[in-house]
Amino acid sequence: MIIFRNARKSDITQILEIEKISFISPWSRVAFECEISKMLMGNGIFLVAEDEENNKICGYVCANVIIDYIHILNLAVAPDYRRKGIAKEFIKRIEADAIKKKYYGITLEVCETNEAAINLYKKFGFIIKGKREKYYENKEDALIMWKIL
Ligand SMILES: CC(C)(COP(=O)(O)OP(=O)(O)OC[C@H]1O[C@@H](n2cnc3c(N)ncnc32)[C@H](O)[C@@H]1OP(=O)(O)O)[C@@H](O)C(=O)NCCC(=O)NCCS
Repeated sequence: MIIFRNARKSDITQILEIEKISFISPWSRVAFECEISKMLMGNGIFLVAEDEENNKICGYVCANVIIDYIHILNLAVAPDYRRKGIAKEFIKRIEADAIKKKYYGITLEVCETNEAAINLYKKFGFIIKGKREKYYENKEDALIMWKIL
């Protein structure tokens, strides 16, 4: 069974493995440690999905609270665990938290060629509201997506 819980510092080694195979410019250990600190201070969300059978971390999501909205910063699922609804569960949880706290909305940037992620966000009602040109290291553009709650 897959369980969802807050991230711990001891998860970061496994998170970095997923990060490296998921992105061309992976985040560093320090970046994830910083997100754990923000979560502990109440300014951020950092969830992991863990396979209870083998204690493997199979996905994670980091988001920051910016006054009255949530900015999703990072989301990835390990290749072996993709297409099982893990990312959907992460977004569902972030949205439920945002509604509970009466936040205005949720935003994120996604690479314009990342069909899987764009489909995921559209499924939740996120709308493309803008573009950041050459946002990524490989010069691809980022789409700015928003969901107003
Ligand atoms: C994008 C990503 C997070 C999706 O995670 P996941 O757990 O496999 O997604 P889910 O199983 O919850 O799928 C939810 C929906 O996303 C869309 N989706 C997911 N993978 C897809 C794919 N390969 N192709 C097309 N649509 C896809 C579908 O609409 C899917 O719903 P469905 O299964 O009912 O059709 C995962 O592919 C990943 O980690 N990719 C690399 C990192 C990344 O791109 N992160 C997002 C950065 S913005």
